[in-house]
Amino acid sequence: MPTVAVDGHDVEVESRPGEPILGTLCRAGYSYRFGCRRGGCGVCKVQLISGQVVYPKTVADSVLSDSDRLGGVCLTCRAVPVSDVVIRLDSTDQLRRIGLFRQAKGTKVE
Ligand code: FES
Repeated sequence: MPTVAVDGHDVEVESRPGEPILGTLCRAGYSYRFGCRRGGCGVCKVQLISGQVVYPKTVADSVLSDSDRLGGVCLTCRAVPVSDVVIRLDSTDQLRRIGLFRQAKGTKVE
């Protein structure tokens, strides 16, 4: 399965089939700035440094525009990696370790 890595951090997590980037990192106990987790607010945007993603669920142009996509912006709550990916968080954001209560519902840390 594709892995998700975060630029500047010693983090690499293997994704599960159909699992978005945000869900992958949260399942492994990491967090960063996000909002709705449903593709509606755009808060979870990051820069996709390398790799490819697909969007199995529709994402509104108002949330992720064509110019965002062309510029390598990735909506992590919806983006499913199809190859190993590296993302870079916004300079005003930070990667954090989270407790079990914040991890994706119904999943365990592996
Ligand atoms: S968290 Fe709202 S669009 Fe991703």
